[in-house]
Amino acid sequence: MNTEPQAATWSGIADWYDNLLQSGSGPHELAVQTLLRLSATAPDADVLDIACGQGHASRALARAGARSVTGADLAPEMIAAARRHEADEPLGIEYLVEDAATLHALPDAAFDLVTCQLGLMDIPDLTATLTAVHRVLRPAGAFVFVIGHPCFLAPDARTITTADGRPARLITDYLHERFWTSRNPRGVRRAGNHHRTLATYLNSILTGGFTLELVKEPTAGTLLAQQQPVYRAIPIFFAARARKTH
Ligand SMILES: C[S@@+](CC[C@H](N)C(=O)[O-])C[C@H]1O[C@@H](n2cnc3c(N)ncnc32)[C@H](O)[C@@H]1O
Repeated sequence: MNTEPQAATWSGIADWYDNLLQSGSGPHELAVQTLLRLSATAPDADVLDIACGQGHASRALARAGARSVTGADLAPEMIAAARRHEADEPLGIEYLVEDAATLHALPDAAFDLVTCQLGLMDIPDLTATLTAVHRVLRPAGAFVFVIGHPCFLAPDARTITTADGRPARLITDYLHERFWTSRNPRGVRRAGNHHRTLATYLNSILTGGFTLELVKEPTAGTLLAQQQPVYRAIPIFFAARARKTH
């Protein structure tokens, strides 16, 4: 008999995830600040937020003044949570159940900006996703993403204390790209995570018809520094703005 616990799914943990963000998550607070800085949302921008979850970044982009925001996520339960937030605070965001690797329901060249906050690590096919993002962007449109920093959030990486008392990250398996599942029962990555090296991310962007315009490795804000002090000195995220070139 298989006694392995069932892996969590995004559909299965959607309500837990929504509560986590509603109760104040240091990582998400930093992620959305970073995403907004890189996006520099123009008032006439049509924005698509892929792997939008319960709409955390979509709402921030709408509040920042985008002309239109569309949120797309594969998990119907996440989209249901996003729509509940839209009913509570109407921002005019349209939410769709949609696979980021195809974006079938969305026409070519329809958006000035595509964003992805903490989603690329959850999507199995990075190349197909970048192809779909490229297709739905207008000429010279931007793709802005924030990912868990692959160098410091590699599979089974953990926080340790050095001999002189400083928090540090212990990394053992950085070069081994694979799908892995965190054993932390309260961790976001218990729903699984596609670990890729930073080189894979950057090369996929560059070969996908984009140039890199700006990258960031943000330092922890107040809430994250309280919740996980190690991220004062080590970046929890890698973020970039890429521009569609051809
Ligand atoms: C860590 S959550 C991030 C959600 C949101 N962007 C945020 O910052 O709170 C990852 C999301 O990726 C979504 N996801 C995973 N694979 C996907 C795919 N192929 N297409 C669209 N969304 C996907 C999951 O359903 C989940 O909502």
